[in-house]
Amino acid sequence: MIKLVIFDMDGVLTSTTHEHFSAWASLFKHHFNLEIDPLLEVKTKGVSRLESLKVLLDHYGIDINESARLSLAQEKNIAYQQLIAQFDESKCLPGVIECLEVLKRRKILCALGSASKNGPFLLKAIKLEKYFDYVVDPTLLRSKPYPDIFLKAASHFGISPQDCLGIEDAEAGIEAIKRAGMFAIGIGPEQLNQADLKVKTFPEISQKLWDEILRGKKE
Ligand code: BG6
Ligand code: MG
Repeated sequence: MIKLVIFDMDGVLTSTTHEHFSAWASLFKHHFNLEIDPLLEVKTKGVSRLESLKVLLDHYGIDINESARLSLAQEKNIAYQQLIAQFDESKCLPGVIECLEVLKRRKILCALGSASKNGPFLLKAIKLEKYFDYVVDPTLLRSKPYPDIFLKAASHFGISPQDCLGIEDAEAGIEAIKRAGMFAIGIGPEQLNQADLKVKTFPEISQKLWDEILRGKKE
């Protein structure tokens, strides 16, 4: 019986994939005069800011020290924050509010389990704060695909991982949910083969399907 649903933010509640990647793209253009390959986007999804930077630096064989990395990561974040500054409720992905309403009616707890330190800002901006009982602070936790963020949400409520469900749009996120021992819903355009259930958008999950999932009957 599912008691807690843990949502990722980027690509699940709102679509910020383009904003994250275009902030990296302008940074790499400015500092290294490089047009980053759009195919790298998928590898930066779901992982922390510094991990994303490492993916890009490694790909282009750029070796810089820790303090240069921290400064680039900070610069990327400033560019990203400018891109999301005007986000409002119109940026919620289709079916998100309806899904949160279903869970609220059924008295299921909801947590935000995002790797992003901008998660709390976005949750407020897109006006979803009232649906969330807890927001995991990713600061001191290992990045997805480690299960830490999902396990932190479960332990906050003292709920066993087998009574939790995670929703993710990225490979690293689905792996984190499965490593946490939870039911994984994959959403969005990626294949996400490890997910227990894969949909393209929330409206694909009918009331009947929600019933089965929440009762733990959907294997
Ligand atoms: C994830 C995004 O949700 O958050 C990643 O998918 C991003 O692309 C990560 O790197 C960290 O986000 P932030 O906002 O803390 O830089
Ligand atoms: Mg995501």
